[in-house]
Amino acid sequence: MTVNFIGAGPGAADLITVRGRDLIAACPVCLYAGSLIPEALLQYCPEGAHIVNTASLSLDEIMAEIKKAHENNQDVARLHSGDLSVWSAMGEQIRRLKALGIEYKVTPGVPSFAAAAAELQAELTLPGVAQSVVLTRTQGRASSMLPTETLDNFAATGATLAIHLSIQALSKVVQQLLPRLGADCPIVVIWRASWPDQRIVRATLGTIEQAVGENCQRTALILVGKALDTEDFSDSCLYSGSYDRRFRPVGTAPRFPTTES
Ligand SMILES: C[S@@+](CC[C@H](N)C(=O)[O-])C[C@H]1O[C@@H](n2cnc3c(N)ncnc32)[C@H](O)[C@@H]1O
Repeated sequence: MTVNFIGAGPGAADLITVRGRDLIAACPVCLYAGSLIPEALLQYCPEGAHIVNTASLSLDEIMAEIKKAHENNQDVARLHSGDLSVWSAMGEQIRRLKALGIEYKVTPGVPSFAAAAAELQAELTLPGVAQSVVLTRTQGRASSMLPTETLDNFAATGATLAIHLSIQALSKVVQQLLPRLGADCPIVVIWRASWPDQRIVRATLGTIEQAVGENCQRTALILVGKALDTEDFSDSCLYSGSYDRRFRPVGTAPRFPTTES
């Protein structure tokens, strides 16, 4: 018996991996994490599957479902939104599974920041503008941040920021970023990326609050950084005709000579 943690993707049902879809179809038990998992994915469950929305369950109650499946020797598909490597609560479940000696596997999913960037048709790492993306959040009621993990510290690096779980604190986000990045810095809020009711607001740090207005429902990503609105970046060396590289040697003394040359 195996518990299969599966990244279910950002919302669109066809943004799950083929492996994830096939695992759902193979598991007689499916535990899925509430409102961010599209119902359409549950249609892949086999007939008669035991399907549980875990949104209202405690960790103990979730583990009770897993233990029951273990006793019945039934594989479990455990669905979390986006990818499992960030804010999935997979870590605490794995810790319990290890203690119980229950096997588990992890299948990645499309994270919401990648889905948002795709909807914006944006590369978040443009040469000479930003070469890093910081996946972060602000302090929530249930989650504190380390003192070093401030928006100001991250903004100081010049990286593109992908701020999760923070739309309700948009005003604070803007206040913390303004001194470092300035009022002209591009910012985009994207709600429910890849869902049919997706909404996008593009603005600057100086104008975003007014642009968003009162309509501030949850499940949004806040992207901030120069890379979101510039044409002023260099071409990458990788595809430059004069850049000598292993797969396209250039010149009379290439750095990576092929055996034929
Ligand atoms: C509990 S975290 C889950 C993150 C998820 N594991 C991932 O890989 O993106 C939920 C937060 O992710 C972001 N999020 C998840 N799905 C989203 C979507 N479709 N569009 C925009 N933001 C999304 C929002 O910031 C939301 O508050």
